[in-house]
Amino acid sequence: MPNGRQLGILLSGRGSNFSAIHEAIVEGHLKAQIACVISNIASAPGLERARSAGYQTHFLDHRGIKREDFDARAVELFRKAGVDLVCLAGFMRLLSPTLIRAFPNRILNIHPSLLPAFPGLHAQRQALEAGVRFSGCTVHFVDEGLDSGPILLQAVVPVLGDDTEETLSARILIQEHLIYPEAIQIALDGSYHILGRRVIRTGTAS
Ligand code: GRF
Repeated sequence: MPNGRQLGILLSGRGSNFSAIHEAIVEGHLKAQIACVISNIASAPGLERARSAGYQTHFLDHRGIKREDFDARAVELFRKAGVDLVCLAGFMRLLSPTLIRAFPNRILNIHPSLLPAFPGLHAQRQALEAGVRFSGCTVHFVDEGLDSGPILLQAVVPVLGDDTEETLSARILIQEHLIYPEAIQIALDGSYHILGRRVIRTGTAS
């Protein structure tokens, strides 16, 4: 049922952010539908979670094909499913311009640091090693750089003296599950405009 609120999800692993989005929809906090879930890993628990929740799911093998061809296939599946907004939920692959240009400013990612600090892999470990007192998570629009697109929402958590990568990751993950559905709602409602790298929210002070 096309209504401008159809989500396409890309994931590679556990899928806890996928589940948070699913639950927010079921509980009525997020006015959206999940139209299509794609994983590049056949055994990803997130893919199984999506299957059991009854969503349209696809395993797309990235091995042996060019990144552009993988992305073109994802675009095709998302278009067929009527996807309006793509959400990366632990998708462990860089996107090519093929996918990014097919959904300009319509792809969101969640990253476990306060960007622009600690982009790329092992963001929580990077934060610990840098000795920062606060870290957190960021939902941003995806552009052609690495974790560099306009920032929509962030949440801050303290870094404690006895933190390990696991304890810090767990503290951040709680916040991820709160801000991702909220950011998706904002992106779907269109209550913002993008000015350079800034996302200016309309109707709020932030
Ligand atoms: C999360 O920490 C997210 O910020 C990062 O990858 C992880 C995915 O976790 N991009 P999950 O698969 O959603 O549980």
